[in-house]
Amino acid sequence: MYKIAVIPGDGTGPEVIREGLKVLEAASKKYKFQYETKSFDFGGERYLSTGKTLEDKDIEELKKYSAIYLGAIGHPQVKPGILETGVLLRLRFSLDQYINLRPVKLYNEKFCPLKDKKPEDIDFVVVRENSEGLYKGMGEFRDKATKDEVAIQVSYNTRKGVERCIRYGFEYTRKRNKKKKLTLCGKTNVLTYAWDLWERVFNEVAKEYPDIATDYAHVDATTMWFVKNPEWFDVIITDNMFGDIITDLGAMIQGGMGIAAGGNINPQGVSMFEPIGGSAPKYTGKNVINPLAAICALSMLLESLGEARASAAVEDAVIEVAAKKLKSLAAGKMGYSTSEVGDLLVRYL
Ligand code: IPM
Ligand code: MN
Repeated sequence: MYKIAVIPGDGTGPEVIREGLKVLEAASKKYKFQYETKSFDFGGERYLSTGKTLEDKDIEELKKYSAIYLGAIGHPQVKPGILETGVLLRLRFSLDQYINLRPVKLYNEKFCPLKDKKPEDIDFVVVRENSEGLYKGMGEFRDKATKDEVAIQVSYNTRKGVERCIRYGFEYTRKRNKKKKLTLCGKTNVLTYAWDLWERVFNEVAKEYPDIATDYAHVDATTMWFVKNPEWFDVIITDNMFGDIITDLGAMIQGGMGIAAGGNINPQGVSMFEPIGGSAPKYTGKNVINPLAAICALSMLLESLGEARASAAVEDAVIEVAAKKLKSLAAGKMGYSTSEVGDLLVRYL
């Protein structure tokens, strides 16, 4: 019996999670597994009415679950930063979800904004470090609000943190068993402390994986290759900040935020799966948002539980429905409503 914690969150989060849960129910019947869900109201509304983001006891409670299914966090009436650090980053950090796994996979040529790129050209995974770097929140103001003010924001990289991430990247590349190539994406030419450490650890760990080809690309060049030669990539490993940036570009070349999903992984603990697009306030409550990203996140969640067949079937259903039914992956342009897309998925399954 799987215990799934559901955090629908803000904006369009609840609408896409509702469709994901429909698909989960259909998959459980077909593939004969049992689960229970419990919904948590963390997010903007709760913060506005109680002043609370997440408390220690909430984290302790979440540790009892097999996985977490998250919609979106972000509310137009809450000052930027409060919910991001108080809920989303708090979850990632306190549950030690040190990997952010973001597949970039083009399901159908018609959704790709790049000329002449086909599904076989865009199929890679970004392994983003998810617990350190610039996201650590280290830094200070000096002489704040004076003309001599200095703002310092530190990228914090521990040997242990970098190594566990890199090891995960090698293991993942091996298990994925495609091109068997791991590319380190960094900035060794300028950020000579952080990326020196990353490069040294990468080269060291690589010796234990003679079956995996390694490569290096600077982050700026990486964005160029995403557009020009995405077929070069298999698995990319990078730090928290660069991973954040390049995966938005990755989402666009795979068809947009309507389809992009990710997993915040603690290989030894509780992992959390989410569409990466955010709360999309302007579409809230309109039943027009694309639920496929949330459904792709569900497919990743099922895989993490060990339900490989159900996971693959959900992904196949997404591919079929997207290709045969949807006019576009963008909100309001699909030719179907949010709930109709969920129904199509269930029927296909
Ligand atoms: C993401 C988001 C978050 C991040 C924000 C909302 C804190 O952009 O999941 O990529 O920066 O990690
Ligand atoms: Mn982001």
